[in-house]
Amino acid sequence: MRLDKYLSEMNVASRSVLKQMIRKGAVLVNGIPVKKPETKVEPGSDEILAAGEIIAYHETEYWMLHKPAGVVTATRDNREKTVMDLLPKVRRADLAPVGRLDKDTEGLLLITNDGALAHRLLAPKKHVDKIYYAEVEGRVTDVTVQHMQQGVDIGDETLTAPAALRILESGEKSRVEITITEGRYHQIKRMFEAEGMRVVYLKRLSMGPLQLDPELAPGDCRLLTEDEYAIFTHNEG
Ligand code: URA
Repeated sequence: MRLDKYLSEMNVASRSVLKQMIRKGAVLVNGIPVKKPETKVEPGSDEILAAGEIIAYHETEYWMLHKPAGVVTATRDNREKTVMDLLPKVRRADLAPVGRLDKDTEGLLLITNDGALAHRLLAPKKHVDKIYYAEVEGRVTDVTVQHMQQGVDIGDETLTAPAALRILESGEKSRVEITITEGRYHQIKRMFEAEGMRVVYLKRLSMGPLQLDPELAPGDCRLLTEDEYAIFTHNEG
């Protein structure tokens, strides 16, 4: 692979800036400055150092982000801060979030360039469970549980697929855990609206077998561990 392509895929800088860096001798391959951007390098065996950092190469990358409220789930946005702004600068350039959380929703977001995995997780037919913790204005009762189980009319062509609702606390303000298998626009908020209630706080806890790491503070991210990657990819196959 060309040296400038390697560095560009790993998002080190734009292609034109990279060419300048390389020509100035600021990029070392196995400890030696290499001044030609087209120099061939071997990902995984050559050591590439740019701007004082070793730049590892991954063909696929899987990031777990604890999305905080206030950032939008998009790869770019002209006005708003996006989830991509929370990742380290040096990472693959072609990453994208898997599915979408609302701007005010927190919690687990997977960001990857593995399009096949993203597709398997998002395809409606796969019915991947997504578990959310929600705080709701209104009294959630067993009737609400039944309605969610039966499917709710949220104004779409079809009712929502059965959702499992677990009441953690019921009162004027209730706390629940809800498992959905679809990913419709504002789905959980609209499901509670259909029941005459308002979601005031929403956090995704899991997606399929992948759980939000409780050690990860809002706004923090990390690569998936080998174990998470293995369970995640095997279970979803
Ligand atoms: N349901 C919602 O209403 N919002 C989200 O962000 C996710 C699910």
